[in-house]
Amino acid sequence: MYKRQTISSEEIARQRNICSEIFQQINASRAHPLALVDTYGCQQNEADSEKIRGYLSEMGYGFTQDEYEADVIVVNTCAVREHAEMRVLGNVGALNHTKKAKPEQIIAVCGCMVQQEHMTEKIKKSYPIVDLVFGPHELWRFPELLQSVMTRHKRIFATEKADGAVTEGIPLKRDGSVKAWLSIMYGCNNFCTYCIVPYVRGRERSRLPEDILAEARQLVAAGYKDITLLGQNVNSYGKDLDNGVDFADLIRMVDDIPGDFLIRFMTSHPKDATEKLFRTMAECQKCAHQLHLPVQAGSDRILKAMNRHYDRAKYLAQVKLARQYMPDLVLTTDIIVGFPGETDEEFEETITLCEEVRYDAMFTFIYSKRVGTPAASMPDPYSREDKQKHFDRLTEVANRISAEKHAAYIGTKQRVLIDGETGHEEYNLSARTNGGRLVHLKGDLSLVGSFRDVTITGGNTWALYGSLEEENA
Ligand code: 5AD
Ligand code: SF4
Repeated sequence: MYKRQTISSEEIARQRNICSEIFQQINASRAHPLALVDTYGCQQNEADSEKIRGYLSEMGYGFTQDEYEADVIVVNTCAVREHAEMRVLGNVGALNHTKKAKPEQIIAVCGCMVQQEHMTEKIKKSYPIVDLVFGPHELWRFPELLQSVMTRHKRIFATEKADGAVTEGIPLKRDGSVKAWLSIMYGCNNFCTYCIVPYVRGRERSRLPEDILAEARQLVAAGYKDITLLGQNVNSYGKDLDNGVDFADLIRMVDDIPGDFLIRFMTSHPKDATEKLFRTMAECQKCAHQLHLPVQAGSDRILKAMNRHYDRAKYLAQVKLARQYMPDLVLTTDIIVGFPGETDEEFEETITLCEEVRYDAMFTFIYSKRVGTPAASMPDPYSREDKQKHFDRLTEVANRISAEKHAAYIGTKQRVLIDGETGHEEYNLSARTNGGRLVHLKGDLSLVGSFRDVTITGGNTWALYGSLEEENA
């Protein structure tokens, strides 16, 4: 049985001391070094990159998007599908040019992809330009690893197998000023048969409620208006803590923090979504009526082969219950097409499920074989072309339903959070509805970071268009 491990505050203090040492060296040399952190994959990875940037910032690095300008490049990788891995390898390979132009440049590759042995071997052999490789479990000691590369001029590979630990006190440099990620737990215990995540991110482990609440309070005090609680499966939050606080309780605690802000969360595993969660979402003023509930497939045989621990009927019953509590619920999902052995008939069950549920948006993927997962050794007789045909059909269905859902907003009034600029002249602002749907607006830049009422004037598959109430008056 996995025992929850923590990295001590002394250890983190030691890492931050190393940041100070590097800072002093940089200061003494009067250099203005720059770093580039390139992130692939999910929000958890975005959150990890904020920690890497936090450390780099403490060391005195500024940031750039230009590979030729960067003194340190960190590529934070994803392993969920082959496509993402290919993109990473292609882009890391292209850094040959920058390293030639700037031989002292340090190139680091971290994240889920390099937590797989065969990938680390590949980088060792075929990508000599890479100086540092570290897995998700070693992120907390990035300063120490980077310093070793700097002083020892040796390649370093830190990708020990581990269950993972909880770390507090790593500095964060957040990406925006309106929306923030807040990790509440790490890892996954579910071992869905297609998925690499449990192998690379370790066992489920929850942060303590007081640490999460302290961070949430800081975010609210700093003016953040949209906080997304993050975890691979947030519904199993707290199961490893033994303090009686479950995910619904945690939402209520965050909701109790005074201030005008929204609480979102992802991802929810249907096997653990409870009536208590839906009731809590409905009752908590600040909790968005938005649920990302990945179904993955519509056929009971495939769900079982995927080790998902629910069937179609249970999933549909949950959706019904959630909508009873929140009639305005925005519901999204993930679907895998072409799981090994999925027949035409089984795929049809995915289509009928989607027609029945009518998701606001769907994230659809073609199955990608992952080394070491149980599905990788299941017979997979269908061709890539067969799978692509199914994928294209599902995309059509998804796009049509999203467009219909968005069309139904036209003429309604919505309270939105204006969260950024778009760079377009006609609709220069972007915003999100309470349920998280994207709205394009025209208005003054000073509105970014505020909640406003808008009338929805148009919509397509991808977004809504609206006008500010004030301008209609
Ligand atoms: N192939 C395709 N899609 C996958 N996902 C996870 N593993 C795989 C895989 N091997 C999808 C699932 C998950 C989302 C984050 O990525 O739908 O919910
Ligand atoms: Fe992967 Fe399943 Fe865990 Fe999600 S719940 S990360 S799909 S194993």
